[in-house]
Amino acid sequence: MDNPKCGQPIGVFDSGIGGISVLKELYKIMPGEHYIYFGDSQNAPYGTRPLEEIRRLTIANVEFLLKQGAKGIVVACNTATSAAVRILRGMYPDVPLVGIEPAIKPAALQPGHPTILVMATPMTIQGKKYRNLMANYEAQADIIGLPCPGLVEFVESGNTDGDDLRAFLERLLEPYAGKIDSIVLGCTHYPFVRGLIQEIAGAQVRIFDGGNGTAREMRRRLKEAGLLSKDAGCGSVTFENSLAKEEEIELSKTLFQKNLC
Ligand code: DGL
Repeated sequence: MDNPKCGQPIGVFDSGIGGISVLKELYKIMPGEHYIYFGDSQNAPYGTRPLEEIRRLTIANVEFLLKQGAKGIVVACNTATSAAVRILRGMYPDVPLVGIEPAIKPAALQPGHPTILVMATPMTIQGKKYRNLMANYEAQADIIGLPCPGLVEFVESGNTDGDDLRAFLERLLEPYAGKIDSIVLGCTHYPFVRGLIQEIAGAQVRIFDGGNGTAREMRRRLKEAGLLSKDAGCGSVTFENSLAKEEEIELSKTLFQKNLC
């Protein structure tokens, strides 16, 4: 018999609107699902906050989504995943719960011992999870972590292609010009500025992000739990935001429609 929870939504959250880049990947491969996306824009960015505070905010986000009836949770934030995914798994052992981490693996497995620049928040780069991930692949690649404080704020304000953003990225990437083979987008806000990053870094630099892998892992977990929707393609997305402003919801919808390549 079908699990009665199949028709319930998948809960997705981020410190703000960046996780919509993951939501897009989820929707692409599971269009028959219902989604509820929570952006905690009031508290963004998380990446410069103390660890305990990020944990408290992350747990509150999961509680909120479960109260809305979420059958599974996607932590669409590298920072929250790094800070709290183990705690969350301990707290909710029966809920399919998937986090996101920088896509270092596919970048490191490219031939020729590549040099990889990992762009992420300061918290993600300092975290134990990132150090372990790096240690796993340091024989295959040279991996450089680049904390990018300030970049999340551009996307949160809806600025994904302004001249000020371009100047910010040029300053950030200038020291690596001609020295890297790939860039890993280790924050879910960054795919929204992927085009600019590619332009500045040059066409020879390959860009990786973990959104698609996370979406596939969620599909696998839901399937395993017998929780995939039976609908072929009539899903829906509901946006919620802690700022509770109509403009924030409108911006979320615009980003959801945005082409990321
Ligand atoms: N999108 C979040 C991430 O993936 C941004 C974190 C922040 O708010 O600093 O890390």
